[in-house]
This record gives sequence, C-alpha cells and structure tokens, in this order.
Amino acid sequence: MNDQSAVLLPYYQPQGNECELFEHAWKNQMPLLLKGPTGSGKTRFVQHMAARLQLPLTTVACHDDLSAADLVGRHLIVDGNTVWQDGPLTRAVRQGGMCYLDEVVEARKDTTVVLHPLTDDRRILPIDRTGEILQAKERFMLVVSYNPGYQNLLKSLKPSTRQRFIAITLGFPSAALEAKILETETGIDAPRAMQLAQLGQALRRLAAHDLEEAASTRLLVYAARLWLTGCPVSTVVEAALIEPLTDDPTTMNALREVARAHLGH
Ligand SMILES: Nc1ncnc2c1ncn2[C@@H]1O[C@H](COP(=O)(O)OP(=O)(O)OP(=O)(O)O)[C@@H](O)[C@H]1O
Ligand SMILES: [Mg+2]
Repeated sequence: MNDQSAVLLPYYQPQGNECELFEHAWKNQMPLLLKGPTGSGKTRFVQHMAARLQLPLTTVACHDDLSAADLVGRHLIVDGNTVWQDGPLTRAVRQGGMCYLDEVVEARKDTTVVLHPLTDDRRILPIDRTGEILQAKERFMLVVSYNPGYQNLLKSLKPSTRQRFIAITLGFPSAALEAKILETETGIDAPRAMQLAQLGQALRRLAAHDLEEAASTRLLVYAARLWLTGCPVSTVVEAALIEPLTDDPTTMNALREVARAHLGH
C-alpha cells in the first residue's frame, strides 16, 4: 500500500483480526456475514475493506418489502418497448465488485432463492425472467450484515443461509480502543476521548438491563463532535447519549446519574 492509497482509505480501527479474516474470505471467494449492534462499525468496516481491496462497493439497505426482483432486476417499459434493467446485485455479479446487503434479515424470503446459488461453490445468479444464468466474476464478493439484537423468531436467517457465510461479530471495542476511534474520527483531545469512552462502557453496563440497544460508538462520535463545537457537556450528554436511547423517564434518570458520575457536570 503506498502513501496515497492509505490517505484515501476510509478510517477503520480494527477490534481484532477482522481485516485479515476479511482478506482471507476474499482470497477464497467466500461470502461474509457481519453481525453486530447498531453503530458498531459494520458499514465503515465494509467501506474500508472495499477501498483496501480496490473494489467498487454497492450497498443495498434491505427492508421488509425488498424482493428478489429488487436485487436482480426487472423488465421496464421504455418508449413502448420492454427492456431489461439489471438490479444492483446483478450489476455487481456481472462487473465484479463488492455487494453489501445491509440488514439482510429484513428482506423478503424470495431473496433466498437468489442468494443461495450465489453463496455456495457454484457462485451463479440465475435470472428467471430472462433465462440467463450468470457466473459471478472472480472479483465479486457478497457481504451481508444483520443485527442479532433485533432478531426475532420470524426474522432470523435460516441455517442453510447462515452456513453459506464466513461470519464475524463486531461488538463494541474496549475503552482504550474506542477512545482512539473518537480521537481519530473527530479530532477530540485524548482526555475527553477517554472520558467519553469510559462513560460509554458504563452506560452499556447499565443498558444491558433496561435498553433494547446500548449507546453505540456512533453516538459517542456524535457526543465528541458536539463537545468539540462548544456544546455544554450536559447538553451533549442529554442530546447524544440519553435521548436517542430511550423514552422511558426512569431509564433516562438512571443514565443521567451514570453520566454525572463520569463527567462531573
Ligand atoms: N472500528 C471503527 N473505526 C472507525 N470508526 C468507527 C468504528 N466503529 C464505529 N465507528 C464510528 O461509528 C460510526 C457508526 O459506524 P457504522 O455506521 O459503521 O455502524 P453500523 O454497525 O453499520 O451500524 P448500523 O447497524 O446502524 O448500520 C461510524 O460512522 C464511525 O464514525
Ligand atoms: Mg450500517
């Protein structure tokens, strides 16, 4: 890697050996499943790795209405003629590159039919409507993510789907690592970065009991940015680390207490 490409890489602080593992998956043409709570760096990790591997990145945010046709493509009527238009997955399979399906469990079940042949050793994408069977380019990689915290019985990946992927969990980093992320990402000074990182850890310990999702690295980044632009610390805490987490007054008070103990405001 030369200096110029290092400058262009989106910043990602590894938590462990995930970058190396990603590269191994890539070398072996294996699809990758990223698990982790909201704001834990999944999207940033994919952006970083796509840039590092010099692959164009296509991201699809999955939702409960997203169908196989949305991924693969559909016929459109243009000037009275029917023309086929590739969907984002098909384009990536044809041209090579990384296709990232964010929150894949949200997508409609018919997407499985498309993903299964693409994620086993066949690496093919059958396009029913045109009769085409595409062989994925050597430089094609599929990455999917989901948040096990939101998982319920109706919305989990079937074993036959999950077992087609190499899987990595991105949790929240240690305080030292998270402080480093805050410093690099926002330019905040080391003492305040560490204060916020330690507060994050404490809020997460509390959150394990009372909240659906804990304060994320994303929210700590927001907090650092507000603090840097001169927002009073009590407002920073309220706006970035309490209000986004819950609407329940009792839980909010408990979070406030923890924050006061840490930041002394
Ligand atoms: N390891 C990391 N290195 C650098 N920045 C990080 C890291 N982890 C989190 N961040 C910061 O947190 C923000 C949120 O991360 P990201 O958007 O990747 O989360 P996510 O896991 O994709 O969340 P969601 O599930 O909600 O999409 C990033 O924009 C970045 O500022
Ligand atoms: Mg994301």
